[in-house]
Amino acid sequence: MKKTLVLRVDPQKPDLEKIRIAAGFIKKGGLVAFPTETVYGLGADALNAKAVLGLFKAKKRPLDNPPIVHVSALKDVHRLAEEVSSTALKLMERFWPGPLTLIFKRSSVVPSVTVAGLDTIAVRMPKHEVALALIRESGCAIAAPSANLAGKPSPTSATHVLEDLDGRIDAVLDGGSTEVGVESTVLDLTVDPPQVLRPGGISYEVLKKILGRVTLNPVAVADRVVCVGEVRSPGMKHKHYAPRADVVVVEGELSAVVSKVKKLVRFYEARRKRVGVLATAETVDCYKAGVVKSLGSREDLASVARNLFGLLRAFDLEGVDVIVAEGVSTEGVGLAVMNRLRKASGYHIVKAEGL
Ligand code: TXA
Ligand code: MG
Repeated sequence: MKKTLVLRVDPQKPDLEKIRIAAGFIKKGGLVAFPTETVYGLGADALNAKAVLGLFKAKKRPLDNPPIVHVSALKDVHRLAEEVSSTALKLMERFWPGPLTLIFKRSSVVPSVTVAGLDTIAVRMPKHEVALALIRESGCAIAAPSANLAGKPSPTSATHVLEDLDGRIDAVLDGGSTEVGVESTVLDLTVDPPQVLRPGGISYEVLKKILGRVTLNPVAVADRVVCVGEVRSPGMKHKHYAPRADVVVVEGELSAVVSKVKKLVRFYEARRKRVGVLATAETVDCYKAGVVKSLGSREDLASVARNLFGLLRAFDLEGVDVIVAEGVSTEGVGLAVMNRLRKASGYHIVKAEGL
C-alpha cells in the first residue's frame, strides 16, 4: 500500500509547486489523479508502457479497454496519430480544449498497452487549468481513464477518487468538483461518416450541426441490451458506472414514471430492501417513502449530468440496496446521462405506460 499524497490546488490558478510535485511522479512512471472539466482522470505517461500497465492495475481495469490520451497542445496529436484529417482539424479547432475525444489511426511511437493492442488511439485536450498544467509540466502526453475502480461510477471530486484509489496511486490533485460531471464524447474519425461511440459532454446535435454527417453507435443509445457483431469501443462491453446497489431505470411520460417509481418503492420495501429514489427537482416532493435525492431540474440537463455520479455514490454510502431512478430526456447532454444510467442498471429498464 502506497501513501497517496493529496495536493489541494486552485482549479483556475493552480500552484505551480504542487503541479511540479505531481508532474515528478508522472515523469518517474507513477500515477496521479487530476481534475478535468468532465470527471477526474488517473494519469500516467502515455508512452511509458510500464506506467500504463500500473494504471490498469490500480484501477483493476481489463487490459482490453484502452484509456484516453490527454494532450495540452495541438502539435502533440501529430506525434500520436498516424494521420490528422481536415475534419479532425476542424473539430479540434472548434471543441478543444473541451469534452470531445477523437479516435485516430495511431502512430508507431505509442506502446501497444496504451491502446490495448488496437491500431487506433483516443485523444483529447481537457478544458481544465490543472489538467493542462500537469500535462505541460510532465512534458508528456498523459494516458488517463476515469480515476475510479473499474465498473464504479466515475469520480467528480477528489473525495470520490480517494474512496476508490487511496493507497493505490501516488497522488491526487484536488481541484474541487468537476463542471460537466459525465465523461467526454468519444467520436470515431476512422470511419466515414464519423460515429459517436460514447455520448458525453459535447452533444450529438452540436456535432451534427458542425459535421453534417455523423452517426450514433447503436450500443451507445440502446435502451435495452443489443447484440452487434463488432464492438467498436472496448468500453461498451464492460459493466460500467454501477454503484453497489442495484439500479432500476423507469422511463416514459412523467406522471406515469412517478406512479411507477412509487409502485416499485412499495414493491422493494415490502421485500425489506432499503430503497433509494433518484428523482428530479420537478418530482422530488411526490415521494414520501425511501431515501429520496434530486438530480436537479429537468429543464437544466447540465445540472442533472453534474450531479449524477455523485448521487449514485451517495446512495451507496447510505447503504441503499436498490436505486429506482427516473429517466430524463435524451436531448443534448441528456443522452449521456441516460447512457450512464442505463448501463449502471445493467439495462434493467422499466417502461412506464399510462396510469
Ligand atoms: O471525460 C473523459 O473522457 C474522462 C476524462 C478523465 O478525460 N476519461 C475517460 O476515460 O472517461 P475512460 O478510459 O474511462 O474511457 C475511455 C473510453 C472507453 O469507453 C474506451 O473503450 C474508449 O474510450 N476508447 C479508448 N480508446 C479507444 C479506441 N482506440 N477506440 C475506441 N474506443 C476507445
Ligand atoms: Mg471510465
